[in-house]
Amino acid sequence: MSLSRFLDLADLAPEEIRDLLALAERLQQHPEPQALAGKILGLIFLNPSLRTLASMQAGMARLGGSSFVITPGQGTWALETRSGVAMDGDAAEHIREGLPVLASYCDALGIRAFAAGRDLAMDVADTSFKAMAELIQKPLINLESAINHPCQSLADWKTLDDLRIAPRTKFVLSWVPHPRALPLAVPAATAHMAALRGHDVVVLRPDGFALPSPVMDRVHAAAKLSGGSVTETDDRVAALKGAHIVYAKEWGSTRHYGDADGDGALRRHLSDWQLNEQSFANATPNCKLMHCLPVRRNVAVAEALLDSPRSVVLHEAHNRLVVQMAVLYRLLK
Ligand code: CP
Repeated sequence: MSLSRFLDLADLAPEEIRDLLALAERLQQHPEPQALAGKILGLIFLNPSLRTLASMQAGMARLGGSSFVITPGQGTWALETRSGVAMDGDAAEHIREGLPVLASYCDALGIRAFAAGRDLAMDVADTSFKAMAELIQKPLINLESAINHPCQSLADWKTLDDLRIAPRTKFVLSWVPHPRALPLAVPAATAHMAALRGHDVVVLRPDGFALPSPVMDRVHAAAKLSGGSVTETDDRVAALKGAHIVYAKEWGSTRHYGDADGDGALRRHLSDWQLNEQSFANATPNCKLMHCLPVRRNVAVAEALLDSPRSVVLHEAHNRLVVQMAVLYRLLK
């Protein structure tokens, strides 16, 4: 199997996902340090990163290739992403020139471009990322767009495999507090991944934080395909009862999308949604805590829980490197 783009797990058939995970395992057991010799990966980060940036560069290097990183506006020209605007502000260059130029220097590109966080429908449709993708004819990797984070989801799938977590077990995606609204990309991608893997997915979120209908429609469709199930609730006790996995994630109010004051007024009263060991009282004894990182200690998740054997967050983060090497291999070999 070869890949031309890695933008969304939903673009892959289940057997293609399993093929990528098998390749990741093979490359872990039997490294191929020259597999991508001479190949160049361009990485464009319109937003900050620790894991994605470092693991992409490390993965490319471990396969014998090389990479360059562009963080527009930080040592390079700021890039304008909007269409039809007079460029009389900070941005000296438009993505319509900048992206094709960068693509011409490398064999594959990765782009991180978070949600603008103003227009829910535009962000849910991934309008901005799709417009960028259309400008590039080379292999392309979504490093987190407004509504998707397929590299994270593939790593999380592998982590569940490593932990031998069976399908049809209870996977709770639990909203947790953060000082401000965060994008929907990880919760949307995680719910979809868990449903596609066949879990009984529970989306646990306070009133005002329901995931948008198009996101939930995709999750339901994935569950139908895999034989899993999906429910939504704001009942923390019922949701966590019998859980095998609790995946903590922060996100913004969808009722007050783009309205920091409205969002803030809701989240001000939700600090007790922080997860701690007590939250797992009625979960299965071996229930694990997942989080994509970065995580705010003692805001989203209690420090003692993050430092306990329940937490597999470092395992997840390491698997970013492992699965992305398989993606790079399939795109470039
Ligand atoms: N989980 C994740 O994507 O981490 P970074 O934002 O640090 O890349």
